[in-house]
Amino acid sequence: MKLLLLGSGGREHALAWKIAQSPKIEKLYIAPGNAGTRNVGENVAIKADDFEAIKEFVVKNSIDMVVVGPEDPLVKGVYNFFKEDEALKDIPVIGPSRTGAVLEGSKEFAKEFMMRHKIPTAAYKSITAENLEEGLAFLETLEAPYVLKADGLCAGKGVLILPTLEEAKKELKEMLNGMFGGASATVVIEEFLSGIECSVFVLTDGKNYKILPEAKDYKRIGEGDKGLNTGGMGSISPVPFADKEWMQKVEDRIIRPTVEGLATEGIDYKGFIFFGLINVKGNPMVIEYNVRMGDPETESVMLRIKSDLVELFEGVAAGNLDEKTLEIDERSAVCVMLVSGGYPEAYDKGYVISGLDEVKDSIVFHAGTAVKDDQVVTSGGRVIAVSSYGANKEEALAQSFANAQKINFDKKYFRSDIGFDL
Ligand code: AMP
Ligand code: GLY
Repeated sequence: MKLLLLGSGGREHALAWKIAQSPKIEKLYIAPGNAGTRNVGENVAIKADDFEAIKEFVVKNSIDMVVVGPEDPLVKGVYNFFKEDEALKDIPVIGPSRTGAVLEGSKEFAKEFMMRHKIPTAAYKSITAENLEEGLAFLETLEAPYVLKADGLCAGKGVLILPTLEEAKKELKEMLNGMFGGASATVVIEEFLSGIECSVFVLTDGKNYKILPEAKDYKRIGEGDKGLNTGGMGSISPVPFADKEWMQKVEDRIIRPTVEGLATEGIDYKGFIFFGLINVKGNPMVIEYNVRMGDPETESVMLRIKSDLVELFEGVAAGNLDEKTLEIDERSAVCVMLVSGGYPEAYDKGYVISGLDEVKDSIVFHAGTAVKDDQVVTSGGRVIAVSSYGANKEEALAQSFANAQKINFDKKYFRSDIGFDL
């Protein structure tokens, strides 16, 4: 099979690495990919949301399947673009329809969906300029800290957590006044939930689902979970508190009602669902839905899938995922992210990355890299994910940290406390 994967980050390199291992793959293309994905497939210089260029490439190269990495093309409707095109309609796209992608594209939609299907989540109110007074009154009923979420996509920056009522009221007004442009014309105010977070992933054909290995990511830039939020500084799988009993609650209270809810509402959904969960006194609650895999969770989750991922994708496309098997590696897998100094604020790009060949017994996934004059250089905030297996997380982490020391570029930074809280 000829498969086209859309995207260019660490998540996509990890997906490409796993896809390329399938005996079913005759040719793997990644659009646009990065300096790492060219080691497992062929990069194509097309942006992941340039649908016309994707169409031309898919037709010309007789692509048999398209897998979508990031949320952007999904929210923009790449699935529908294929289904509605005479030349593309029979080519499976792994990813939800435009309506399905609204689970991530609109926080308000996601909350209303959870209410309709009795899925446990924080109490909330949805506010626009029209009912600002109601929002201010709702804030008064809550206890500190206060959670304000822009309704639309904000590249992971649209959530504010404020320590005082006064700040919450002020920021609510500013969000409605366009702090995040149109994305915060509607703001979801939420009750604050206290607990440890966990990312749970499923692959669904719209009716059946497979639960992939769960993972925990480390979002803050500083050790001890201090400082600014990032795209993610590392991840760990499995997550110790997500034991059999807890995962059963997740399946019964969250996963099944979500998949059934999508089906009963007639929402076409063939792809990954990412449940951002929080463990509140032993009970899982939903913080957010994403309609794609997590990054950097994918860089540990892919290591733990033993089965042929492409065969699972075929089950998604054909609607017979229940007939496929998902075998999971019992070992631990972790990922440590090497980032550019300054990130998540301003940082420089174009530094030469050395030492990649010296890495032993870890798997290197490129996130923000590019090729310049035949050298691999930094081209993003998150640069390289160093992923490792271990009999336990300590062993896997020791391996990733050792290899993280061997890879070098100017102003390299990584957190050496990934997993500290578990
Ligand atoms: P989101 O973009 O919805 O994932 O929110 C970003 C982060 O804000 C989450 O990963 C949580 O750490 C935090 N967060 C969001 N909603 C809540 C909530 N209701 N209670 C506590 N923390 C939250
Ligand atoms: N690691 C969180 C995310 O991918 O959104």
